[in-house]
Amino acid sequence: MKRICVLPGDGIGPEVIECAVRVLHAASDSLDFVHADIGNAAFKSRGQYLPSETLGLMRSCDSCLFGAVTTPKDPDYNSPVLQFRKELDLYANVRPVRSLVLTRGRKPIDVVIVRENSEGMYTQNEVFDDKGVTTLRRVTRKASERIVRFAVDYALSNNRKKITCVHKSNVLKASDGLFASIFWEQLALTHGVIVADEALVDSAALRLVTDPGSFDVIVTLNLYGDILSDVAAGVAGGLGFAPSANIGDKHSVFEPVHGSAPDIAGKGVANPTAAILAGAMMLKHMGMVDVAEKIEMAVQAFYTAGHLTVDLGGRHGSSSLTEHVIEIIEGRVTT
Ligand code: NAI
Ligand code: MG
Repeated sequence: MKRICVLPGDGIGPEVIECAVRVLHAASDSLDFVHADIGNAAFKSRGQYLPSETLGLMRSCDSCLFGAVTTPKDPDYNSPVLQFRKELDLYANVRPVRSLVLTRGRKPIDVVIVRENSEGMYTQNEVFDDKGVTTLRRVTRKASERIVRFAVDYALSNNRKKITCVHKSNVLKASDGLFASIFWEQLALTHGVIVADEALVDSAALRLVTDPGSFDVIVTLNLYGDILSDVAAGVAGGLGFAPSANIGDKHSVFEPVHGSAPDIAGKGVANPTAAILAGAMMLKHMGMVDVAEKIEMAVQAFYTAGHLTVDLGGRHGSSSLTEHVIEIIEGRVTT
């Protein structure tokens, strides 16, 4: 039995996570779910965005499935997402984006963005003075080596053919230059088993839209990975299609890339695909590869059958998609 800490959060977080848990429950009876509070709901009931009980549960479970939280307008707010990534040392953020359905005007995409998850612009080290604000951005050799090694291992073990280092070393010569040079140092150790190249972040953003097939695995710094994964999700059909994993040596948290989407919360139209696929990624990480592939195939079959979700202009909302996917998993419909 694997014990999963479920953190629904705010906005559409609880809506898509409920769908993912229903699918996981239908696909396997070896999962035990415990729910924990995070975000605004947790702040209202316990006075903390990431209560210590929640963090304790996250540490003690085999893995965690997280929805999204809403950022409040509170100057003292500390993001619980950045906090759990730091506390659990989740240094690698893996964001696969693949087209499940082809729509007119969008090119097929199948790319995995591996984002450095522990430093860069996310240390929130901002200093006011009388003229403005200075933001400190840290790039260390240790974190850069760790993420590049992780990305190369990921590429090789997932039969990926190419890895691209994305940076902005023409401007940020020292910091991004260090990241790029570590990339080439680490790649030299692999003796050419994988094709490698590099791209500046602005041209990479353009190419993700105009020529997504030119990318396979991307390894990049924290902020660039955040932005590029939303671009890639847009190419695949929207944020409802991009799952992600936060991986450390001891702990892991899986989540959709999207936020709490207050504009559609409570309407039953959020696309739960990203949350369901995040659940499948979690199973793979725990060694339950067959069950994960069953879920992935069921989600793909839903779209291949011609069904469209509301975000793609179709009629299927969160629960309708979930019911179809469960029917496919349980073999109650032939596709
Ligand atoms: P967002 O990702 O919540 O939404 C951006 C756009 O994508 C919206 O139009 C939304 O309706 C759409 N969208 C997102 N997920 C969707 C889904 N599953 N199905 C269909 N459409 C979907 O980003 P936004 O609006 O910038 O942020 C909203 C809140 O979420 C903010 O408070 C922000 O700070 C927070 N946020 C939280 C994250 C997290 O908890 N990991 C990540 C990103 C944002
Ligand atoms: Mg983001």
